[in-house]
Amino acid sequence: MNPARIAVLVSGGGTNLQALIDAQKSGILHSGTIAVVISNNPNAFALERARQNGIASEIVSKKALGSQAAFEDGLKATLKAYDIDLIVLAGFMCILSENFTRCYEKRIINVHPSLIPSFCGEGFYGLRVHQAALEYGVKVTGATVHFVNEIPDGGEIILQKAVEIQPGDTPEVLQRRVMEQAEWILLPQAVELVSSRICKESCR
Ligand code: GAR
Repeated sequence: MNPARIAVLVSGGGTNLQALIDAQKSGILHSGTIAVVISNNPNAFALERARQNGIASEIVSKKALGSQAAFEDGLKATLKAYDIDLIVLAGFMCILSENFTRCYEKRIINVHPSLIPSFCGEGFYGLRVHQAALEYGVKVTGATVHFVNEIPDGGEIILQKAVEIQPGDTPEVLQRRVMEQAEWILLPQAVELVSSRICKESCR
């Protein structure tokens, strides 16, 4: 069975991309292969991680392309060029329109750093999510991997893991704990799960 061809979409540091690369090396991720890393940000360190691991990378910049429609057309063309089966949003800080998401139903997954439906949706990304959780005073937070549809952070949940908040946590400390205890474990597991389903589907 051919592995599912994966595009990882990134915007920043790329520690979740690194978790996927490591999972591919260790064999946790074996039903899919990372075919390309796509960044909207030319300065993302995630691009360096791709280079260091011999993975193709592409930049598709909304700023350079000028509109949401041109940006999404650019993404689609790149995904087609690499014959992609599965799109993984790993710290990708752009909202995708319904026009885009409906072309890839159950083929886009995202990792979000909270227990959805808490602290999610438009405006909740990166450190802001952890700031909001601490401000609210919740005692448990976590991470969620879900399918992406037209509702920001609203698609079907694939995997979730809880993480405890400790007294004195700052957003940065909490972000790191959620990554270590949840995101870097869950995302590779979810990508393997969905990749194996895609492989089976394509064999029918
Ligand atoms: C991660 O915590 C990811 O869950 C979050 O941004 C961080 C990216 O880190 N994504 C979102 O908030 C999306 N709504 P990384 O670039 O090191 O993987």
